[in-house]
Amino acid sequence: MRRFATMITLAALLITSTVYAQDGQGADGLGDELFPTLGNGGYDALHYTIELDADIENNTISGTTTIDAETTQELRTFNLDFIGFTIDHVNVNGEAVDWDRQDGELIVIPLAPLPAGEPFTVSVTYSGVPELVDHGSAPVELGWRNFGGGVVVLSEPDGAAGWYPVNDHPLDKATYTFHITVPEPYVVAANGQLADTTAADGSITYTWESQDPIASYLVTVTIGEYVIQTEEGPGGLPIRNYFPPDLAATAAVDFSKTGDMITYFSEIFGPYPFEAYGVVVIDTDLNVALETQTLTIFARNGITGTGEREETVAHELAHQWFGNSVSLSQWNDIWLNEGFATYASWLWIEHTTSGEDLDRLIETIYDQVAAAGTTYFPPPGSPPPGNLFNGGVYYRGALTLHALREHIGDEAFFDTLRTYANRYAYGNAITADFIAIAEAASGEDLSDFFERWLYDPQLPDIPEMDLSATAS
Ligand code: TRP
Ligand code: ZN
Repeated sequence: MRRFATMITLAALLITSTVYAQDGQGADGLGDELFPTLGNGGYDALHYTIELDADIENNTISGTTTIDAETTQELRTFNLDFIGFTIDHVNVNGEAVDWDRQDGELIVIPLAPLPAGEPFTVSVTYSGVPELVDHGSAPVELGWRNFGGGVVVLSEPDGAAGWYPVNDHPLDKATYTFHITVPEPYVVAANGQLADTTAADGSITYTWESQDPIASYLVTVTIGEYVIQTEEGPGGLPIRNYFPPDLAATAAVDFSKTGDMITYFSEIFGPYPFEAYGVVVIDTDLNVALETQTLTIFARNGITGTGEREETVAHELAHQWFGNSVSLSQWNDIWLNEGFATYASWLWIEHTTSGEDLDRLIETIYDQVAAAGTTYFPPPGSPPPGNLFNGGVYYRGALTLHALREHIGDEAFFDTLRTYANRYAYGNAITADFIAIAEAASGEDLSDFFERWLYDPQLPDIPEMDLSATAS
């Protein structure tokens, strides 16, 4: 699914990266500089139907993923990203077709060329033990993770292909239907809203529907035994939290501010973009949280019952605007996700304490970034491959936004955030799109400002706060 804003970005990528269609062959990548083989050319995935039987004990899955798509060129062959499993058969428009595999690419060969600009359906029936995906670009191993007693899917940036065939790049978002069958008493929580449950022979099929387009790295299925806690957010927004039974009371404390946070972020960024929100706490320890769309994942050891992880709670929620609704167009721009979510969590601190507390926080972080240097905090605009989620992307990225705010003033700054969240909602953006909005809002040429903050190894000054890393 590509909205208008995406088309412009995509056209720009195609021109610079020569991912041209050759002889009806859909390209095996979308021109991402860091991940050249993620995503595929020649079609636009619109809707995924993922129908899987999960055997938790043996850690196998089996079933069919069906993609409703549209060709963007004539296709004699096209690719999906898919890792592992035994493929039983591949159908195009209901008929069995030939296919081939090369590394993470599944090459599909329709019986006759698919004409340009036409809808088509491809389905893949497969089974096996999911392989974990570890290309060194994420803080943990990715994919369908069975931790014994449950399953969690974590995919950012390139783990989605480890459990379903997919056009695995944020440039091609799509809507989803999940039919996941699990043995009782397991429960399935996934993106969107629970539409149906059907019980048969000791198993239950959970149907989840996601009406808003999702980037594949934000798609998740989690399986566990849960207590479900529901509440109503602002404007009647359904909030549903999935907690391990023994943690339900403590976790409820940690997430008690979610509704207030949504209200505050809606005021400053614009309306919450999706049909629902909530968190799932998986029943295993992991030192990460992931902003999977409409259903953020936390791990057991992230729960304290004291609310002291409020900053992380706010960070993951803010990603729903920055990263999930407005998605990056290339992984190099990851600061558009992490710098923004980090700064949003600081805005929540400012909102719930005082402006002075924010100033102290900024000073502390600035000094830490200055002292630790570029090994820990590289300039955020061009993260080193293999260290995508580095400290610079988070903290120097967030400082970039604070420095911008100091430089252009609150009115132009918040106007910029709102315009950016609104203009690229449900689509994709690049760093230049954000800069253009900030320039229009402030009436200033900010090219030098962003050049220094995003790409210069030297940490720039924040003169309005007397902060300098080169101080005499
Ligand atoms: N996006 C996560 C955050 O909010 C970090 C992250 C990247 C991650 N890849 C991941 C977390 C994979 C869990 C699994 O900071
Ligand atoms: Zn984040």
